[in-house]
Amino acid sequence: MTSTKPHKVIYDTDPGVDDAMALYFALAHPAIDMVGITTTFGNVSVEQAATNALYLTTIAGRPGIPVTRGVKTPWVKHPEAPPAFIHGADGLGNLGSRVATHNQVDPRSSAQFIVDTARAHPGEITLVAVGPLGNLSLALKLEPTLPTLLREVIIMGGTVLEPGNVSPVAEANIWNDPHAADSVFTAGWKLTMVGLDVTHRVITELSLFKKIADHHDHLATTTLHQAVEFYSRFYSGLHKHLYKTPGCFAHDLLAFIYLVNSELFTLETGRVRVATDGLAQGQTIMNRRDYINYPQEGWDKEKPHTQVCMAVDAPGCLKVFENTLMSNWLAEN
Ligand code: BDR
Ligand code: CA
Repeated sequence: MTSTKPHKVIYDTDPGVDDAMALYFALAHPAIDMVGITTTFGNVSVEQAATNALYLTTIAGRPGIPVTRGVKTPWVKHPEAPPAFIHGADGLGNLGSRVATHNQVDPRSSAQFIVDTARAHPGEITLVAVGPLGNLSLALKLEPTLPTLLREVIIMGGTVLEPGNVSPVAEANIWNDPHAADSVFTAGWKLTMVGLDVTHRVITELSLFKKIADHHDHLATTTLHQAVEFYSRFYSGLHKHLYKTPGCFAHDLLAFIYLVNSELFTLETGRVRVATDGLAQGQTIMNRRDYINYPQEGWDKEKPHTQVCMAVDAPGCLKVFENTLMSNWLAEN
């Protein structure tokens, strides 16, 4: 932990099972102050994403956190179908039933909420973005000085050396809106990319979610366990090593673990651009050889750098996750 004051965070998300896992980690962690949740299309439609964010916060006893709806479609490319086979048609592993909740979305768009909050707290807000990046890209258009108003931006998305998860080279969040993503990588904020190079190294086992659910005996953690059961089934079918011991990649969670325990990650810094079209659409390309001085359009020295997570202490991350979720963070049911 780098500071004693909690990090004020806006969570830009498309919940999504691993988004839910990350949300509960953030709500449980004493060094994170969640000031708003901005939703986007991605794992589900933006309407469903906002419904899920409201539901998850309410059942965890935090209905006061503002939730907004954001972009519905990518900036330029044709929208892709939501991956119901990974996250369930409802984004939370097809929950059989939900308890009634009554809180409403904040009427502002996600981009407007980001701009308003950054202006109200200049230099204080960390934006953790774990879905397609259209809300950030739109916020940049509304407020071009946003990179100096935000403290930092941490994204879960992209990959450098690890193969992609939606194409041989592309990671899902970047591929879902490559033009928006490229505008985020070239905006000039303090930016950290937590991509598949590290998220594919950390497996959260289903048994851990059962342990957390049994420990708390609370609707929030049983809901998370149910959702992860569905999500793990997908990953167990895909990867032999997850067949015997069901579990999943906790992609979005690692963006928050980076925020509070950056010492668990090894970083490389370089310019990152996104391939917006063609076979490599959605690929994040990092220039790892800054000495190349050949004039290439798009790679000029004025382009900002991104910190990219290239290696991770997986057992360390799992310990932080378990300790945080097993702590006393939930009010009585
Ligand atoms: C990313 O894509 C989504 O399906 C997950 O929620 C995560 O943000 C992983 O590639
Ligand atoms: Ca996500």
